[in-house]
Amino acid sequence: PVPTIETDVVIVGGGPAGASLACFLASHGIKGIIIEQHSTSADTPRAHITNMAAQECLRDVGLDAVLENLSTKGDCMKHTRWCASMAGREFARIYSWGNDPSRVGDYERASPCRPVDLPQTLLEPELVRHAALHGFQMRWDTEYVSFAESPSGVAVAVRDKLTKAEYVARGKYLFGADGARSPLAAQLSLPFSRGPGGGLAFNVLVKADLSHLIKTRMGNLHWIMQPLHDNPPDFAAMSIVRMVKPWHEWMFIFFPAPGYVMEKENPITTEMYLERVREMIGDDTPAEILKVNPWTINETVADVYSKGRVFCLGDAVHRHPPFNGLGSNTCIQDAFNLAWKVAYVLKGKAGPDLLDTYSVERAPVGKSIVQRANDGFRDHSHVWDALGIFLPSLSERQSVIAELEASSPAGRERRAKLQAAVEQTAHEFHGLGVEMNQCYVSSAIASQDSDGMKDGENVVNGTVAPKSNDGNSGEGDADPILTHVPSTIPGRRLPHVWLNAGPIPSSELVSTIDLAGRGAFSLFTGLGGSAAWKAAAKHVGDALGLPIRAYSIGFGEDFEDCYFDWSRVCGIEDSGCILARPDRFVAWRVNDIPSTGDAEKWASDQLQKTMRGILSRK
Ligand code: FDA
Repeated sequence: PVPTIETDVVIVGGGPAGASLACFLASHGIKGIIIEQHSTSADTPRAHITNMAAQECLRDVGLDAVLENLSTKGDCMKHTRWCASMAGREFARIYSWGNDPSRVGDYERASPCRPVDLPQTLLEPELVRHAALHGFQMRWDTEYVSFAESPSGVAVAVRDKLTKAEYVARGKYLFGADGARSPLAAQLSLPFSRGPGGGLAFNVLVKADLSHLIKTRMGNLHWIMQPLHDNPPDFAAMSIVRMVKPWHEWMFIFFPAPGYVMEKENPITTEMYLERVREMIGDDTPAEILKVNPWTINETVADVYSKGRVFCLGDAVHRHPPFNGLGSNTCIQDAFNLAWKVAYVLKGKAGPDLLDTYSVERAPVGKSIVQRANDGFRDHSHVWDALGIFLPSLSERQSVIAELEASSPAGRERRAKLQAAVEQTAHEFHGLGVEMNQCYVSSAIASQDSDGMKDGENVVNGTVAPKSNDGNSGEGDADPILTHVPSTIPGRRLPHVWLNAGPIPSSELVSTIDLAGRGAFSLFTGLGGSAAWKAAAKHVGDALGLPIRAYSIGFGEDFEDCYFDWSRVCGIEDSGCILARPDRFVAWRVNDIPSTGDAEKWASDQLQKTMRGILSRK
């Protein structure tokens, strides 16, 4: 007989999606196996911008601080620049990743976490280590072969690549975190939608100490555009130079000229890459090529993420270029959405239908981030046009640069075009809205408030046009990609607010984000609702066999709203409540408790009915 291992769950893929899923499942006490065909974690830096939405998920298992420690600090992410070479002339720069002086407050108010620059080579080992220390076995050099599903679980056939021995890992659920070539998504025949995408690019990892150049050119992304180059090679018409290790390791992402086709009979040699890297550095700094990876710019997203007992996540279901830095961040958020649902179902706290809400909630988000990442790339074409990069002759390109320097109407127009094009890229470099405005619509969200309060949000592809709770800012007056407007409308992320921990001022403020999460539902109420909702939370929690934490916020309550931020954002009366799911999305809210009748009974009945609905409990 084939050797068989019994476990709770099986994950294929030890990248950001699979390893973070293991960390989140482990925090619920779930055990499992990760099957990974490679011998180590990522050996190239790949994704690096780690945004606040992903950091909030990792904060739930105590990893945000560890990762922040490992990340590149200071103002290394301050700018994105457009220049003729690293040493040469600068055409433009834009503040990036929360460092625009006019946006700093937006980022600080959105989350207790900060965006960090952390290459995947540093992120993955921490995730894997955490998962391994908390109940997940890592099976390196092991290939997924096939699976068979039965009414009670999945039997996953795997092969040890060294011994060629096959064995079976048997669990309740199987997760396909197996990347952009996902065998599992293919075997499940998941339906995919495809956009035009954008061709080929080359990641060239380079060792070159550019510290002497960075002091006056601080930033982690530098677009190199050389309109005055007399004969730029087609395979590397322009490049993004991305910091990997400050300031001596860099990823040069080469973008070919339009229409370029890689020819097998004329391979690009290491010398050709190196010559182009040197031109793009622009001085005599020694440089060495460490690795080259060609990749294609995808615009592909699955319309459905799961079938039966198999759930796919990460690049297996959304494939797109790195613009807006949404790659591994979205993988981590898929995993966080999925983990608590799986844990609740495995522990009998929720009915299996809860698992259907994973695809219903996350597939629209995948669609929106794939579109944004590709739109982010397309936005750059306006900068290329303004600088005349792809004009066929050198003389035409020279006249564009001459025009930029001319005191003439044509010069003014050209400069305005460049300015508008660079400003448009704020949608990539300060896309706080696309990172934070997700809105879920599913049976795990009680979308209509029990008192009939209408939420009236316009949800498109899992995100909303920002509109604040109090109605002060109407839909459409803020850019939904740039701006995060916090809201407690069911389906939205629980707003982060700093609260004072208790009636006597304490030295530590606590975030609503840290009161919620950690595997439990959390209920927030105010003065006048405290007794009834706390009793209801205890009663319903006991009846359903799960803890529901209850907090009251207000003068003299558990937590005081010292900045009045909660009162601005909560959108409910003093006796109302907001129920947050374990993934800190708002599941339900009630404006107030009716003034007549038994408040405690009313609150208990409402909460019990709602929790049963959210958890698909009969
Ligand atoms: P990922 O691909 O990371 O992991 C899937 C894992 O499954 C792999 O480790 C693979 O070995 C394993 N696997 C697949 N089939 C298997 C099988 N049959 N058996 C066992 N194991 C199997 N993003 C970004 O935001 N900025 C960037 O600059 C870049 N740059 C970049 C460069 C390159 C070269 C690549 C390939 C990718 C990027 N990305 C990126 C994308 C980013 O790396 C990506 O979004 C995440 O790695 C996706 O994480 P996943 O865990 O979903 O897949």
